[in-house]
Amino acid sequence: MKKSNIIATIIFILLSIACIIAITTCSKAPTIQDGTWSGDGEGFKGKLSVEITTKDGKIVDAELTSIQDSDFAKEYAQQIVNQVVEKGTIKGVDAISSATYTTKGVLDAFKNAIDKASGKNDTPKVSYSDTETDIVVIGAGGAGLSAALEANADGMDVIILEKMPIAGGNTNYATGGLNASETSVQKKLGIEDSNEQYIQDTMIGGKNINDPVLVETMVENSSDTVDWLLEMGVDLTDVGKMAGSTNSRTHRPAGGAAVGSHLVQVLENQVKNRGIDIRYNNEVTGLIDQDGKVAGVIVETPEGNYKINSKAVIIATGGFGANPEIIVSYKPELEGFGTTNHSGATGDALEWIKVFDGDVVDMEQIQTHPTVIPEKNIMITEAVRGNGAIMINRDGKRFGSEMATRDVMSDAILKQKGKTAFLVFDQGVRDSLKAIEGYAKQGLLTVGKDLKELAEKLKIDAGEFEKSVKKYNDAVEKGLDEEFGRKASEMPRKIEIGPFYAVEVGPAVHHTMGGIKINADTEVLNKDGNVIPGLYAAGEVTGGVHGANRLGGNAVADITVFGKIAGDKASEYVEIVEAE
Ligand code: FAD
Ligand code: SIN
Repeated sequence: MKKSNIIATIIFILLSIACIIAITTCSKAPTIQDGTWSGDGEGFKGKLSVEITTKDGKIVDAELTSIQDSDFAKEYAQQIVNQVVEKGTIKGVDAISSATYTTKGVLDAFKNAIDKASGKNDTPKVSYSDTETDIVVIGAGGAGLSAALEANADGMDVIILEKMPIAGGNTNYATGGLNASETSVQKKLGIEDSNEQYIQDTMIGGKNINDPVLVETMVENSSDTVDWLLEMGVDLTDVGKMAGSTNSRTHRPAGGAAVGSHLVQVLENQVKNRGIDIRYNNEVTGLIDQDGKVAGVIVETPEGNYKINSKAVIIATGGFGANPEIIVSYKPELEGFGTTNHSGATGDALEWIKVFDGDVVDMEQIQTHPTVIPEKNIMITEAVRGNGAIMINRDGKRFGSEMATRDVMSDAILKQKGKTAFLVFDQGVRDSLKAIEGYAKQGLLTVGKDLKELAEKLKIDAGEFEKSVKKYNDAVEKGLDEEFGRKASEMPRKIEIGPFYAVEVGPAVHHTMGGIKINADTEVLNKDGNVIPGLYAAGEVTGGVHGANRLGGNAVADITVFGKIAGDKASEYVEIVEAE
């Protein structure tokens, strides 16, 4: 063959291969047909829907056709819709952390509509059938993810069941941080603290009705747990102070960013990277009883029910702060209060343990958080006060130590005119805490170039307001708050650098200190004080750690420490059962 013919043949072959690749690739890419399509997703308060119009493979118009979430969340949902229409695609549009459930639900609804436009009439649904495993973990919040990771590290087969479409529960919303003492991070920052002091603060905060053994267990494991989280990639390098803590021990990401969504993201990634079976939209409805031992769970999914037989079960379903019926049954005075909690915090597990005569403790101990924006139910972290903010009433006056514990501060606010107050701070405080940027982005802050302008916007007496701020600044300078006894270490800076900021706040249900009774090994106890074989519980679903009032930062310590212990202890139990 002539040289020119050989070259022509090679070119022909290469072109043919390129064509085949192009055709195959093209035929693989789903073609979005022109038209109008609807899609559904799951929002914070139930189903939401979008309608999209597609042309030439792009989304040219979209509308939210139904949504039950709050007006606040709807604004974020609309932002997602606008971004998608602007880009013509959902690629590069992410859920917004301030309204994660809603915005993720909107994106799911878009995906569902695009699937229909691409000829897939339904998104693929996973249907599960009866199965078995070593350990079932119920709930993919901080406690459940910690337990699952630890049990997996101990060599166990684990299935995590989460009733919501996403992981994280209340942990997603944790902002201020995680308390821990004698940590490597504190040491690096030159912060002196001791386990003894942490135990004492927690007992005093809880009015000494806490279970001291559980408190000691939490505190003594807190430092190791911080190291365990750091090793997995959780950033806990900023340490601040929250109410009731003698020393700075509230650990959070650099710059004072919110702790919870970051923690969940890292732990959930670890779960996925390790191949742990995590099932969303899988709601547990009961425990399997085998001669008094817990031997698995009954699960409900949109595609049907099934059961999992397991050697041990870890309950990590969180508290009941979003279940007004249970709340009011234990504390009638909380009738009509808002809640900071996610909608899945409904206390489901309290029913399941009744079959095993499981015990509960401190059920009437329900905490309100003092700085929650009325109606919107958005909590403004206590860390804002920890970093120097003050509280002002409608007379322009302070009315207590802003670093008093939550029960005291909540009661004090309810005694003010209008039953709300203004959280006031300056640019110095804002610069000290990244979490505030989130509030600013959400448009939650009233801003004044000076105190007078801020007072006018708040419709309070400017003269009294300026006097109150001056008196507070004098107290900071002297290191002595003669009026309300806020400690020198709790007044880190004056309020003096403009612009100045305020947020109207009042109390809302925040934390349920009571719950399932456990021992220090996280074994669930029955009413006779005996262990229920095969059943473990960790996190806000349990009671006893926080007594009558939880200190800010102590829940994230509780859920990670006891979540990890539950993973270990359930694994030990499985090994014993297997050896029998
Ligand atoms: P969750 O994180 O609530 O997880 C429980 C999971 O179980 C949820 O995902 C839920 O959907 C799932 N579940 C429930 N029932 C079922 C069922 N039947 N089947 C399957 N799954 C189920 N504490 C701090 O220490 N520091 C803070 O900065 C802080 N900030 C907070 C801010 C806000 C707004 C809120 C609401 C709380 C805050 N807390 C903070 C408290 C802390 O976040 C919670 O106590 C903690 O995250 C609870 O963790 P958990 O794993 O026990 O429960
Ligand atoms: C907050 O950041 O104020 C909440 C902290 C907590 O609930 O522990």
